[in-house]
Amino acid sequence: SSVTIPPPACMLRPLEAPFRYLFGPGPSNVPPRVLAAGGRPIIGHMHSEMFGIMNDIKKGIQYAFQTSNNMTLAMSGSGHTAMECALFNIVEPGESVLVAINGIWGERVAEISERMGAKVHTLVKTPGGHFTNAEIEQALAKHKPVLFFLTHGESSAGLVHPVDGVGDICHKYNCLLLVDSVASLGAAPLLMDQQNIDILYTGSQKALNAPPGTAPISFSERACHKMFNRKAKPVSYLLDMTHLSNYWGNDGKPERTYHHTGPVSGFFALRESLAILAETVGAICVYFLLKDLRLPSVTTIAIPEGYNWKELLAYIMKHHRIEFTGGLGPSVGMLLRIGLMGYNCNKANAAMALAALEDALKQCRMSKA
Ligand code: GLV
Repeated sequence: SSVTIPPPACMLRPLEAPFRYLFGPGPSNVPPRVLAAGGRPIIGHMHSEMFGIMNDIKKGIQYAFQTSNNMTLAMSGSGHTAMECALFNIVEPGESVLVAINGIWGERVAEISERMGAKVHTLVKTPGGHFTNAEIEQALAKHKPVLFFLTHGESSAGLVHPVDGVGDICHKYNCLLLVDSVASLGAAPLLMDQQNIDILYTGSQKALNAPPGTAPISFSERACHKMFNRKAKPVSYLLDMTHLSNYWGNDGKPERTYHHTGPVSGFFALRESLAILAETVGAICVYFLLKDLRLPSVTTIAIPEGYNWKELLAYIMKHHRIEFTGGLGPSVGMLLRIGLMGYNCNKANAAMALAALEDALKQCRMSKA
């Protein structure tokens, strides 16, 4: 027998990955220092130096999240992995979950919870809407869920949701608070411990400016109590926190044993991006100057009358090498999204983004048929 399938012609050409200004909702451009960290020679995922780097990452996440939770780590995977990890570990089949839906992320959580056999209750607003604490309390009292999900940075609508007081209300009803901060962490104020959030996760590829593929997550004592006293094991082996807590050295055992092979380069890059955040003195205090509910990392713009949004995006990509995106989930066709995250967030880039938009608005107006 011999090889019958020839080498594909595309594999005999060099990799082509053009430079793009990533001014969408993520991934964002990665600073050279973080790229260089990710390009360092690989070490083994179980080498003591790697465990040291993971310990640093844990500290960096504790700082970024403003938490002293021991159960703090980074998932091997995107923000979505962290979302599923939280749900798979906390919720058991038959238990009630309350999900706030005001964009795509609540929709996703409701679907995943349903797949797991949870009883799913929803609080729904149109994209961009937000929930008052009174509305949340009413729903908690009615449905008595074990978990309440809220999106802090709703990237599909451009909204940063208020979190103050929500954790206290949840705890009054013996419910855990799960918050998605993929699009907001590092861009809008969020203080896990002070705001009594039980489970918080984010992604590497947005305001943290690391490549996509790793996702910080942290669990409070209360959340740990629930997830480590389950009746049945979580359905996912890969995302089982009993194993992940050992892999991250969080379970107090003297040895870490093999569970899965973590993304070594991704962790190098994540460590560097968390180091940059730690060096950015005062960043966390500056956040408090924000007053309204507009998400600082992703700006949403209503599509003006007389334009085809896909044409606008294609024009801007072709002529300016800039990525903006359209809506997502329930906001598709309603808006354009411009993200200036972390390293990308400066006046020169904002001016470049505006000039590109202005040019596109001049060139792409549809003729009235
Ligand atoms: C997430 O990836 C988004 O597009 O908001």
